[in-house]
Amino acid sequence: MRRAIAVAVVVCAVMPAAAAQADPPSYGIVRPDSERGLTLLELGTQLYGGNCATCHGSNGEGVTQKRQILGAGDQLGMGPPLRGVGARAANFYLRTGRMPLASPTTQPGRSRVLLSDHEIRALVAYVASLAPGPPIPVVHPERGNVSEGMQLFTANCAGCHQVVAQGGYVTDVVAPPLEDASPTQIAEAVRIGPYVMPSFPRTLISDRELDSLVAYVQYTKNPQDPGGWAIGNIGPVPEGMVAWFIGTLVLVLTCLVVGRRLRHD
Ligand code: HEC
Ligand code: HEC
Repeated sequence: MRRAIAVAVVVCAVMPAAAAQADPPSYGIVRPDSERGLTLLELGTQLYGGNCATCHGSNGEGVTQKRQILGAGDQLGMGPPLRGVGARAANFYLRTGRMPLASPTTQPGRSRVLLSDHEIRALVAYVASLAPGPPIPVVHPERGNVSEGMQLFTANCAGCHQVVAQGGYVTDVVAPPLEDASPTQIAEAVRIGPYVMPSFPRTLISDRELDSLVAYVQYTKNPQDPGGWAIGNIGPVPEGMVAWFIGTLVLVLTCLVVGRRLRHD
């Protein structure tokens, strides 16, 4: 019995981590024999053909469920069209290791990046060349205001990512902690809305507000803890509950001690 509980505890502890860590395809990256002498776009086209076309179609037109094909490593292909997603989405999905994905049915997550910086730039150039699309956003968190950022984060993001950006669960999906996301990646995610995350266009969060939002997420990576015990910075309500829990425990113990004394007298 005790062993069963131990196993259950370990499984519960490991599962969210496993779900959040989507691995890159086990067969790795398919590369041209030599990358030398190729222009950026030529290299991008070849890398795309070897690593992305099975799921996104030979010209970025997408592969629907009805038209699935078996690709490299016997992986089943299915993915959205990439025309018009621009450098912004390509840069985000490639630099966070979300793409190439091992299986089209798993949630893409941050994982090991197997492509070199040069290869990523080549693929980004290729995806951007498919159709006009948004460029990689430029953010200035140093111009932002942390307290305005916190308000924006509480209103728009905390429901899924938790107030100090430690991540959480949305039905069947992991909303990851944001500690590994760079300022550019945070801006990209906000504008793209990867997977089930909603996208926030400029009409909802202006570029200036985005600077503040990014400044706040950067701040959560190293929060200041004036006044002692931070309890993971989970917010006043759970912190209050911890105080209640400790307080109640002390009260019960006091009652037991006093009760025992009275019985002895
Ligand atoms: C409905 C829930 C939801 C809301 C609201 C939401 N997110 Fe997300 N967010 C997610 C999910 C789910 C993912 C993971 C997507 C994936 O697997 O590719 C994610 C991914 C991210 C990432 C990428 C993290 C990484 O390390 O790769 C960042 C950054 C991010 N969100 C920031 C934000 C910000 C900032 C806001 C508010 C403006 C926000 N999110 C609002 C659910 C949400
Ligand atoms: C196993 C199938 C698979 C492979 C291989 C794959 N992708 Fe994807 N890709 C997907 C799926 C499924 C999504 C949708 C995920 C989501 O909504 O977050 C996606 C999403 C994307 C997006 C975001 C599209 C958008 O609408 O914002 C980009 C960009 C992308 N992939 C680029 C690539 C590139 C570049 C490669 C090759 C290096 C690649 N993918 C390989 C399945 C795949």
